[in-house]
Amino acid sequence: MTENINNYWNNRYWTEFLNNNSKENLDFLSDLWLDKYSLIFDKIKKGKAIDLGCGLGQYTEYLINKGFDVVSCDISSKVLSELKEKIPNAKILEIDMSKSLPFESKSLSLVFANLSIHYFDTKTTENLIKEIKRILKDDGYFVGSVNSSQTYKFIKEVAIELEPNYYQEKERFVRLFTKEQFDYFFKDFDFEILDEVTTTRWNRTKIMWEFIAKLK
Ligand SMILES: C[S@@+](CC[C@H](N)C(=O)[O-])C[C@H]1O[C@@H](n2cnc3c(N)ncnc32)[C@H](O)[C@@H]1O
Repeated sequence: MTENINNYWNNRYWTEFLNNNSKENLDFLSDLWLDKYSLIFDKIKKGKAIDLGCGLGQYTEYLINKGFDVVSCDISSKVLSELKEKIPNAKILEIDMSKSLPFESKSLSLVFANLSIHYFDTKTTENLIKEIKRILKDDGYFVGSVNSSQTYKFIKEVAIELEPNYYQEKERFVRLFTKEQFDYFFKDFDFEILDEVTTTRWNRTKIMWEFIAKLK
């Protein structure tokens, strides 16, 4: 399984993405949504952080500039080497977040995950969020975004529902979040922000939830 998903992210998603988009033309700045919550985000204590499912690392750079000590984590060795080229001082780690997370308990101030924790079935998502809770310090924050269930209209022609809100779309799997899903999966967190927003990402409409959550 790990080999299959590894193959998908390395050889299909990121290979195609990088073939179709010149990195120089990607508008990374417009993708950064955290600034609009800076009054809240800037209160988070600076310390160790991970950028989980970091992709090309636009948020890694943002978090480093904000003063966090960031480890950029992704399953794709291909995208991690691209990130390292762009940010030579970045710390990178190849991991599969559907397994346990290789960090000590209560060691992180921030887990950041932009559009990266919504690929898993219910059991795996529960375990992942349990792991995120385990590695966060008591005053730690979990911040990120996930696909909204309103995105269903874009995939309904090809999507097969495997579990409530969890779909297979050709060779990839995706969870579309409702407010009820947040209530279910984020029981151990209090939300300071939970906003459903429509935005444009890489020239395509995206409907997603943005969240800033603090451990209870
Ligand atoms: C839609 S991209 C988002 C990338 C980046 N966070 C951003 O905002 O541009 C999802 C990322 O999650 C990574 N990913 C997917 N499944 C993963 C897994 N099981 N473990 C670690 N990373 C994973 C992919 O390689 C990809 O970089």
